[in-house]
Amino acid sequence: MEVVVRPHAGAATDLVARLIQRAVRQKPDLTLGLATGRTMEALYAKLVEDYAQGGTDYSCVTTFNLDEYIGLPPSHECSYRTYMQRHLFDRVNVRPENTHVPDGMAENTEVACARYEAMIATVGGIDLQLLGIGRTGHIGFNEPLSAMFSRTRAKALTPETMAQNRPLFPDPAMMPHRAITMGVGTILDAKRCLLLVTGAEKSGVVARAIEGPVTSMVSATALQMHPHCTVVLDEAAADGLSQKDYYYWLFENEPEWSEFR
Ligand code: F6R
Repeated sequence: MEVVVRPHAGAATDLVARLIQRAVRQKPDLTLGLATGRTMEALYAKLVEDYAQGGTDYSCVTTFNLDEYIGLPPSHECSYRTYMQRHLFDRVNVRPENTHVPDGMAENTEVACARYEAMIATVGGIDLQLLGIGRTGHIGFNEPLSAMFSRTRAKALTPETMAQNRPLFPDPAMMPHRAITMGVGTILDAKRCLLLVTGAEKSGVVARAIEGPVTSMVSATALQMHPHCTVVLDEAAADGLSQKDYYYWLFENEPEWSEFR
């Protein structure tokens, strides 16, 4: 795991945008795993801005989203499909048929999850998986006690995650309690993982995820076992890390980061 700390949220988000853009430049037919949530809104705005200025070409990119609420049709204003259309898909030249979000309305969730896994396998797996972290330490919607080898499946949301996301629903009572999510094992299969976290309210869970013991109680700790995982934080989210100075030093001195300094 490599940890990069940037002075503020804008700089952290900008770095992640540039890493994604470079990955697409290097492999135009990249398979990109995508996340939703408040943190990603600023990131997608940067990708859209770059695209609008004639930057990155997404015409050969394939995307797979991490999760979707069970019971929300794609057209629902709070579905993750709608989120993705609004913040990214409708605003860059990714082909609609190359974008995938789990089917929250599937008659048979198990079959739909197995099909999702098969689709990922068919394209040769995910090259770059973008991730955020929830207050429970979830990645995707892998809530505490998600097995390290879990695959795409239905998962019940914790009260903490319900509280985190309920304000995003115009009628909070309408928020589903369950979601389909890629499993921890599905995420770990990605060739590279890229976790973006900003804001002081995440500093406690970030410290547990990065420097704490690996435990299924905090799914993000599984990323410590991934051979190529990059964590990008702003100063506020990094506040609880014991080795913060070391992480700063690495970014300022390691050759691999020279083009981003
Ligand atoms: C959603 C997802 C979640 C979010 C996490 C952080 O697709 O993958 O793991 O990344 O809940 O959400 P925000 O950014 O809203 O704090």
